[in-house]
Amino acid sequence: MFGLFTKTHREKTESSASSISMEKKKNGVRVILFPLPLQGCINPMLQLANILHSRGFSITVIHTRFNAPRASTHPLFTFLEIPDGLSESQINDEPTSNVMSLLAHINVNAESPFRECLQKLLLQESERVSCLIDDCGWLFTQSVAESLNLPRLVLSTFKATLLNAYPILPRIRTKGYLPVSDSGAEDPVLEFPPLLKRDLPRIFGEYGEKLDPFLDTVVDTTMRSSGLIFMSCEELEKHSLTLSNEIFKVPVFAIGPFHSYFSASSSSLFRQDETCIHWLDNQEDKSVIYVSLGSVVNITESEFLEIAWGLSNSKQPFLWVVRPGLVLGAQWIELLTEELVRSLEEKGKIVKWSPQQEVLAHRAVGGFLTHNGWNSTLESICEGVPMICLPGGWDQMLNARFVSDVWRVGIHLEGQIERKEIEKAVRMLMVESEGEMIRERMNVLKDELGRSVKEGGSSFRSIETLTNHILSL
Ligand code: UDX
Repeated sequence: MFGLFTKTHREKTESSASSISMEKKKNGVRVILFPLPLQGCINPMLQLANILHSRGFSITVIHTRFNAPRASTHPLFTFLEIPDGLSESQINDEPTSNVMSLLAHINVNAESPFRECLQKLLLQESERVSCLIDDCGWLFTQSVAESLNLPRLVLSTFKATLLNAYPILPRIRTKGYLPVSDSGAEDPVLEFPPLLKRDLPRIFGEYGEKLDPFLDTVVDTTMRSSGLIFMSCEELEKHSLTLSNEIFKVPVFAIGPFHSYFSASSSSLFRQDETCIHWLDNQEDKSVIYVSLGSVVNITESEFLEIAWGLSNSKQPFLWVVRPGLVLGAQWIELLTEELVRSLEEKGKIVKWSPQQEVLAHRAVGGFLTHNGWNSTLESICEGVPMICLPGGWDQMLNARFVSDVWRVGIHLEGQIERKEIEKAVRMLMVESEGEMIRERMNVLKDELGRSVKEGGSSFRSIETLTNHILSL
């Protein structure tokens, strides 16, 4: 039944522009990509698609109906949609932070449609299909690929340090670190540096032991794969990347930060409000604090109001992304009183979604209050913008520790969503001498990362190795 999926676009012959010189000649080999349907996972997968396309590969993207990427913004790729079995209420009513539940449903519902789709594609495709590349969060794809004799490569949209910890997370959970007492909150988690015990409850969330089978499957399927691709590089985590190779016993390719090669804008699921760029044009250099908590995090009404008052009291210009649905129980910003809106409008601008990469690259932006999703963290480092860390959970806890405690390019709010703490952190980063020192360290890190994506740099060389690996499969 071919009608299972729809072809929405056929490839054109020309590749999109890349800032680096890459081959554009087609190599006659097709790669199939299958992103997890979350903004933070779709962006890297489509950036990877662009990188591989610029190396001559033809690209097919299989995707779920939920959070389907916009095919029209990627005319060079073929898109195939499969049903995901999610009901309208699951899509519309569940908080976006309930990612584990959503993924659990899709991992069950999408298996048969995915298998059918892949089978047909392999039968009908005229080019040689060398491999499937999909997200480590898909639990059934390794078995499907094996049954069809198709090599599979795994993409981790997390830092390598997090994936390396999957085999030991169940042990850490049962070791007695939890619950965390006030006196022990600052203690290190010895098996998982640089985490502190206080970070653990937000890593395990309410899932506890229910997480263990998920972790086991990811480890097992990754070990059975033909390689592991990280949106990271040696400059950020050389030791962890070596460890990944030892733990998963597969070739490791650290080719990130992907957005240095191709922007994430074309894969945005939300309409980006461009008016914020004109607003930034009228602000002083490095004067604006940019505030965004990504596409998944939710906050409570009181946390929302504390952030609003903190920004207002800081008296610094700000650009604040309040994603519809960010605040639990609210549509958008209707919880703000007229008085507060007036006070906020004096210094800032609120939008529903921004062209984030462009914002971070703007000369007026001097700081980023972020949830530390891995994309946002990398985008901030690449633009040399120091951070205020407000992680929501999972890998964000780890990324935030690296930003504040290892690279020391940001200030950690330690979960204190209180107006005074936010005002203090904003002023410290934007106007005080401590902020100046953080900025200097950030500039050094930015330069190191910049070198990795230039010809001869570690990421650049890894793209070469990955290309040869895919061709050899
Ligand atoms: C999710 C997880 O939450 C995160 O922890 C994991 O590392 C990746 O998957 P998300 O929460 O959306 O991602 O955060 P992040 O990784 O930062 O990705 C958000 C993406 O959306 C970034 O590429 C960012 O540039 C983009 N974005 C965000 C916009 O384009 N506009 C905005 O207004 C906000």
